[in-house]
Amino acid sequence: MRMADAIVTGSEKRQLSYIEEFDRVLGGGFVTGSLVLIGGDPGIGKSTLMLHAALNQAGTGQGVLYWSGEESVHQVQLRARRLAPPQRELWVVAESCLDNLELLLAEHDIDFLVIDSIQSIYRSEHGSSPGSLQQVREITAYLMRLAKTRGLTVIIIGHVTKEGNIAGPKMLEHMVDAVLYFEGERQHSYRILRAVKNRFGSTNEIGVFTMTDEGLQEVPNPSELFLAERSQQGSGSTVTALVEGSRPLLVEIQALVTQTTFQNPRRLANGFDPNRLAMLLAVLEKRLGLPIGLSDAYVNVAGGIRISEPAVDLAVALALWSSFREKGLDHQALVLGEVGLTGEVRGVQHLERRLREGAKLGFTRAMVPMRQEALAIPGMQLIGVRHLAEATQRYG
Ligand code: TYD
Ligand code: MG
Repeated sequence: MRMADAIVTGSEKRQLSYIEEFDRVLGGGFVTGSLVLIGGDPGIGKSTLMLHAALNQAGTGQGVLYWSGEESVHQVQLRARRLAPPQRELWVVAESCLDNLELLLAEHDIDFLVIDSIQSIYRSEHGSSPGSLQQVREITAYLMRLAKTRGLTVIIIGHVTKEGNIAGPKMLEHMVDAVLYFEGERQHSYRILRAVKNRFGSTNEIGVFTMTDEGLQEVPNPSELFLAERSQQGSGSTVTALVEGSRPLLVEIQALVTQTTFQNPRRLANGFDPNRLAMLLAVLEKRLGLPIGLSDAYVNVAGGIRISEPAVDLAVALALWSSFREKGLDHQALVLGEVGLTGEVRGVQHLERRLREGAKLGFTRAMVPMRQEALAIPGMQLIGVRHLAEATQRYG
């Protein structure tokens, strides 16, 4: 009997996808022998993303197996051609029964396995209907064992359905090493890859892509993309800067405040915490005397980004105020600051990084918490405010 195993600390072995945005979200590539789940709406681009990564892996001489339960070998091949890499060789199986997997792994010396998708495959020992709760769970556990015992990197693709599919990726989150979600709006071409769980890295990073005719393209400067459609006139819009992981990101905050026609005013936040919105409305009402209580209020973070940082409070509050008063704001200014319950404007972390990103994209002014006003950013004038009321007074 073996009593103990020696372990070695330090960095794990990694397999890069050679897609910078992807590798960064993973925390520096796939950890060899890990099981990763990629979830997202049907049609969002999961297969495309994984085929890119699989082709890149194949290009490094790794044995790659792409197991498709949804598309034929021909379809996968056509897609692979469309992604236009130099000549690459990878193994493709188009079959919904996974029983032969181990045979193939042994035969072809596979290092990297993609299962597309967990909902479309079955193992006959658990019956023959793909997508059942039991199948999904058992296959995931089976793939985890394979990954660990063979040092095989396994990526499972899972569709998330609006109806909250019980056999969906949510249920698998605790079983796997890392969970990444691929998100986006069908109407827009950009896609965001986000880690919601990562045993080998942080979960703050996001990767940004656009879907083109030649597959997914990385977006090295997402701020530009998110501000591209910004209207620079009118009321109810501000620009603020987030810090997602290691990277600052500029986004537009839009607010619309209208007289309500409902018994209870409607408050809707898209990409922003609804409780935080309720709090900011209460501060505007109570500390600034703004009679906003009988208005519907909508807040939208343009571009489908989701914000969870208090650093954007001031931008949201100003946008709400601007819409209510129908007063335009300074479109050359970034707005940053946390707002407290008395309306005080509090300091923000990583302010310098946020402002530098703004300066890079041509913003010449920034409204910031007073205590951080002394910061020197080339090309940018800082306007310090102590209180939300001071901020609104600048616009009359
Ligand atoms: P897909 O990767 O099949 O989505 P998922 O696996 O998440 O269901 O991609 C879906 C859409 O992407 C499909 O409607 C076609 C489009 N697409 C492109 O626009 N360009 C491309 O190069 C590829 C391969 C797909
Ligand atoms: Mg697919």
